[in-house]
Parts: sequence; structure tokens; C-alpha cells
Amino acid sequence: MARPKVIVTRAWPEEAERRLTELFDATLNRDDRPMTVAELQQALRAADAVLPTVSDKVTAEVLSAEPLKARILGSFGVGFNHIDIAAAKARGLVVTNTPEVLTDCTADLAMTLLLMAARRAGEGERHVRTKSWTGWRPTHMMATKVTGKVLGVVGMGRIGRAVARRAHHGFGMKIVYHTVDPVPQDEIRALGATQCASVEDVLRQADFVSLHCPASPETYHLMNASRLGLMKRGAILINTARGDVVDDKALVEALKTGIIAGAGLDVYEREPLVADEFLAMENVVLLPHLGSATSETRVAMGLRVIDNLSAFFAGKAPPDRVA
Ligand code: DGY
Repeated sequence: MARPKVIVTRAWPEEAERRLTELFDATLNRDDRPMTVAELQQALRAADAVLPTVSDKVTAEVLSAEPLKARILGSFGVGFNHIDIAAAKARGLVVTNTPEVLTDCTADLAMTLLLMAARRAGEGERHVRTKSWTGWRPTHMMATKVTGKVLGVVGMGRIGRAVARRAHHGFGMKIVYHTVDPVPQDEIRALGATQCASVEDVLRQADFVSLHCPASPETYHLMNASRLGLMKRGAILINTARGDVVDDKALVEALKTGIIAGAGLDVYEREPLVADEFLAMENVVLLPHLGSATSETRVAMGLRVIDNLSAFFAGKAPPDRVA
């Protein structure tokens, strides 16, 4: 029987590509060039499965391709706000994602940003590299202590809880959180975490705020000027979730005027574009969407897409179906 034809939109780690080509008639993207709208549409006309990733915009326009051959979008990534889910459903496409396998690495990166922003690590590194350092002195680059402070977690899903565990058990931080979905109460008890009735309550109490909610119409610009204004003056905002959860303009203003003390960002509203103002600020740590970027995790994400495809083409329910 002919193997299902699958088209991958970006280069994957070698091990995952090897497994994909063993199981499927796979077209890889060897030069890793982003696909255009027309190329994505052509993929949907030519393949049984298209495997996009979080930087591909799978819009209603893309999904209007005719005649549509694809039956499944096996997305490489946990977030799926880059796919117009309603349009995919309307076209009868199954959509899957890759949860769980990136939880630890994304949480590790949130802690990296938190520590870097608090301890001025990026600034310090630039100081050394530019040969500006003149030696130890009692008032040099004084920063913010992390141990024992209050961490506010917005969105207590898998990644939010993994960050809370690191912060609480590793750094003795007190955890306050707001979330919309139910969370395992045994985990909350083990963290001694306090649930807040609103995001605003979290913002008022926290020394550090880490965002872990998905992008959705409800969370668009959740961190706007008025909510940033509720944060403590010395507080630091960490975003490893999605760029448009934060109003970049409002954040620039809050950082410039000292409404908050700093930020650690891995995601941006218009990424890969980053607001020029951020580039010029010393109190912001900027990373290029690296949350899941370890070899172990990126291979596991590819294998997770393959698990979903294998189940789908065997006539079973894909384990990570989101639509
Ligand atoms: C995701 O998977 O949604 C991340 O943003 C990239 O790993």
C-alpha cells in the first residue's frame, strides 16, 4: 500500500526527519526556507498531511486551497494560535500539536530569563565583552534578589506549574497564581501556592510575573498599560508564552518610566521583529523564541508529530488532537 504523503514546512532535527522518512513518503524542507502562502496551499493540494510549525501562518486563506487533498495538520509545537482552527475544522482537517515534551525546557528557559533579568546578567555580559569592567566594587551592578520573593504565575497549565516548581523548590519563592482551567490540587498543595481570583490580584502581589497562558482573543494584550500599572514598581515581567499576550508599546512605556523594573522576553508581538526600543534598553533580556530549543526536546517534538500521524493513518484517534 502506498505510504501517506507528508510535507514538512521547515527543517526538523535529523533524528526526527529520519524516522519521518522511514514511515512516510516525506518531502522535507532541506534549506529551511519559510514557505509562502502559495507554497503552503500547494502542499495542502499535494499531500495527505502537512506538518507546519509555530512560525507558519496557516490562515483561512491558506486553508482555502482547492482541491484540498490533506486530511491532517500535524503541527510541530504546543501552541496552535498560528492555525485558523475554525477554518481548519470547516475544511474537515484534523489538527494535532506536541504537548508535554517541551514543558521542562520551556520552564527552564522562563527561569533563565527570570534570573538573567533579576541579576542583570545580559547587561553584565555586555559590560565584560565591551571591556567596560573596571573591577569589583560594593555598588557595582546591584540587582534584585530572587530567593524568597513572590512569583506570580498567569496560567497554571503544565508549563506554569513546572516554572512554579522550579521557583518554589529551587529558590524558596512563594507562588501566587491565576488560571482559568482546573489544576491538580495535590500539585498546588505541594507548592503551597495561593490561587488568586483575578490576574490583577496576582499582579499586585508578585515581585516577578511569569506568563503561561495561550494566545487567544481573551488573552490578547492581557498585559496592557493598566495591568502593567498594577505591578509593583520593582517587579519584573517574564514572557515565554506568546508575544501578543503583551502590548509591546505599553511594556516599552512601563519600562522607560519605571512602572516596572525589568522584563525577560522570549516571544514578541510581531516576531521575528523586535521593537527597536527594547533593543536599546538595558533592563530587558531578549531571547529569540528559544523555549523548546534543546536537541532532546526538538527531537521529541518531531517524534510526537509522527505518533499523531501514525495513529491518524492507522485509523485511530491521534493522541494530541486539538481540532
Ligand atoms: C510552541 O511549541 O508553541 C513553542 O512556542 C515553540 O516551541
